Amino acid sequence: MSYQIIFWMLVASTVILIAGIMVMAGSIQAVLKSKKNKSKDNKVIKTILALVGMTLLSSTSLFAQGGEQENPVFNPELSDVLGLTLVNMILLLTFFYFKSIFNNLVQEYIPVSEAKERSPWFKINKVLTDAVEIEDEAVIMMDHEYDGIRELDNNLPPWWKWGFFATIVFAFIYLGHYHVFKTGDLQIAEYNKSMEIAKIEVDEYKKAQNLNVDENSVVLLTEASDLSEGKKLYTQNCVSCHSAQGEGGIGANLTDDFWLYGNDIKNVFSTIKYGAKNGMRSWDDDFNGLQIQKIASYVISLQGTDAPAGKEAEGEFYEKISFE
Ligand code: HEC
Repeated sequence: MSYQIIFWMLVASTVILIAGIMVMAGSIQAVLKSKKNKSKDNKVIKTILALVGMTLLSSTSLFAQGGEQENPVFNPELSDVLGLTLVNMILLLTFFYFKSIFNNLVQEYIPVSEAKERSPWFKINKVLTDAVEIEDEAVIMMDHEYDGIRELDNNLPPWWKWGFFATIVFAFIYLGHYHVFKTGDLQIAEYNKSMEIAKIEVDEYKKAQNLNVDENSVVLLTEASDLSEGKKLYTQNCVSCHSAQGEGGIGANLTDDFWLYGNDIKNVFSTIKYGAKNGMRSWDDDFNGLQIQKIASYVISLQGTDAPAGKEAEGEFYEKISFE
């Protein structure tokens, strides 16, 4: 299972949270600067710096871990995701902790209006969402009135705007991930990768089922049951060109002693699997190795039956293969 998407979303939220914490820290600093009491000021700032340092350290050590991997495309594992989730939770707690400190400080020391002017948090919120506090609503009250109903000229709600900015941030991460740093696979690459994986799985399945006989490992099957299965497949697929008894037509006569490509099981297997140049197509996509092995064995068993009205001999003479 790939954790790419979750991982990079967590990375994005880490970045956003760190940015948020830095803004909060700046706001707290601004509030503290505006008052006289220096000693308390220093203590709070020190705690803040220590906390920020700790969280940054823990998150960078995590990234360093990921960087050690030799694979150029970083493939996050469950442990990375869990670790990053933990870091995110710590950051989130830190953020809310800062926010509560900030709120307390504002209430304690300065008039709300002044704090708003100074603190970056309020400034950013104001610039990005253009929200108007309830106390200031008179400013955006429109001058019409119908039956006592009045209207505010509100901007879009802040939660909506934040959502919108999140999509912008996401777009940059997406762009970087897929197009700039090329750490992610685009559709075609992803498709090819899954096809490769599927191919490996199919091969494993065939191996497990003993189906992937190929031209190197194939041996002649002599059991009557295998030959009759081969005959069934032959009847379903080959008679249109080689005729019902193998006497040939468009395709070569399979019942005489003359073969274009040899009558050894390996040769016949290859002819069926890969086809031959004059109108015999490849059957690799239609059958698995075991099936081709059965058909090939059946075809070889036809030699010497010299079906009536057979096609004229083609190729060279080969001794009949013994089925004993
Ligand atoms: C579309 C017609 C067509 C079909 C269907 C077809 N063949 Fe053929 N087959 C040919 C032709 C044509 C040749 C001769 C190829 C050449 O001369 O290079 C041939 C050649 C062969 C040969 C080589 C014979 C030799 O003398 O060495 C074998 C074996 C064979 N076919 C088996 C099969 C089997 C098994 C099937 C069914 C799975 C099959 N063929 C389906 C047209 C067909």
